[in-house]
Amino acid sequence: MRIAVIGTGYVGLVSGACFAEFGHEVTCIDNDEAKIARLEQREIPIYEPGLDVLVKKNLEANRLVFSTGYSPGVPEAEVVFIAVGTPASRRGDGYADLSFVYDAARQLAPFLSDYTVVVNKSTVPVGTARQVARIMSEANPTATFDVASNPEFLREGAAINDFMHPDRVVIGVDSTRAEEVLKAVYRPLYLIETPFVITSIETAELTKYAANAFLATKISFINEVANICEEIGADVQDVAKGMGLDGRIGKKFLHAGPGYGGSCFPKDTHALLRIAQENGVTCRIVEAVVEVNAAQKARMARKIRKALGGDEGGKTIAVLGLAFKPETDDLRDAPALTILSTLLEHGARLRAHDPQAMPEAAKVLPGVKYCSSPYEACEGADAVVLLTEWNEYRALDLMRIKQSLKQPIFIDLRNVYRPKAMAQLGFAYHSVGRVKVG
Ligand code: UDX
Repeated sequence: MRIAVIGTGYVGLVSGACFAEFGHEVTCIDNDEAKIARLEQREIPIYEPGLDVLVKKNLEANRLVFSTGYSPGVPEAEVVFIAVGTPASRRGDGYADLSFVYDAARQLAPFLSDYTVVVNKSTVPVGTARQVARIMSEANPTATFDVASNPEFLREGAAINDFMHPDRVVIGVDSTRAEEVLKAVYRPLYLIETPFVITSIETAELTKYAANAFLATKISFINEVANICEEIGADVQDVAKGMGLDGRIGKKFLHAGPGYGGSCFPKDTHALLRIAQENGVTCRIVEAVVEVNAAQKARMARKIRKALGGDEGGKTIAVLGLAFKPETDDLRDAPALTILSTLLEHGARLRAHDPQAMPEAAKVLPGVKYCSSPYEACEGADAVVLLTEWNEYRALDLMRIKQSLKQPIFIDLRNVYRPKAMAQLGFAYHSVGRVKVG
């Protein structure tokens, strides 16, 4: 099949490369000329494991091409995916800024030739697909097309695998013709027995928000349980295990930590609250989830202060990990942003390391000294804070860390290490939802 993907951001590029890997002929379109020029040179603008190999392979096989214009690409395509960004609105009111989606719809419409299915892959509020259809009909009254919604559930850092082996594919359509076209796009997944949820457009749009808000709920829930554990001397890791082995609960997303971040959960929880509010209903659980997440980040700064004896002013703190999670250079809404800013405001000196996110971090957190290794970051510091659980921090030379530090204070906000073992090594070890040792 011939497919066009508009937007070569995270979702668009991963989807385009994976559709090409399915065997389709894919044109990835972006109006950023510099980005397209780099992609044609096989330079990948984001860090995502496996993406470079996939792009290179499919470029060489001529199944994947990049373009700055809609033609060639859109006129030949049977399916056009809109995968442009939907950032939070600058008004700060919880709305997503849909101008890129609507611009793409307006601009692509005149290029449609035969019947085309236009699919929203960007995460958009309920009702956006209908709005896209209206805009396209106005821009090209003679075009024959259907609009569909096909939300993505990709995790950064595991996006290729998630695309190739999804738990499910959700497709919102209101015509059997569009349904058949989209089933054909995803035919390779039928072979591996992926479940398909074929439903109405509005249901598909809401499913994405409900799924992300529920995952965020699990995280805020376990973070509050962790806080109770700290007070009563229980161990949240074991509580999570004991809960998660119940198949109705499930063991994933019950890892206590510094609060969730990233481009999806913060944005999507707020967007779900807006959708509820606009429709005259409440979503009080999600309201609490958002509040608990903000409180968790604030609590982490207090935890660090307490570990340093009640005042971080004038102290040097080593920070390991800045990205909102491992295997990404993404800092959007990362807990590091809030926690580090608080520490800086209180007069702490920060020495940070992250395997991927330091160039981005230097732009938004200028007062921090960026170091080339975790050991360099710990050199002469009063304490070390493990903030993102990169694999390289799971296998630290702990004796070397201890020797580099001025005081052996280890604050592990991802519960990577075992309290007893850390105490034996002579650390004062603080973690989340477990008893402080040493
Ligand atoms: C998420 C969803 O998982 C994905 O389906 C959706 O399409 C996009 O949003 P992503 O933002 O890449 O993906 O990250 P994810 O791995 O889900 O983690 C989100 C945040 O939650 C991270 O900050 C992570 O550290 C945190 N988290 C996750 C926890 O604190 N505890 C957990 O148990 C799991």
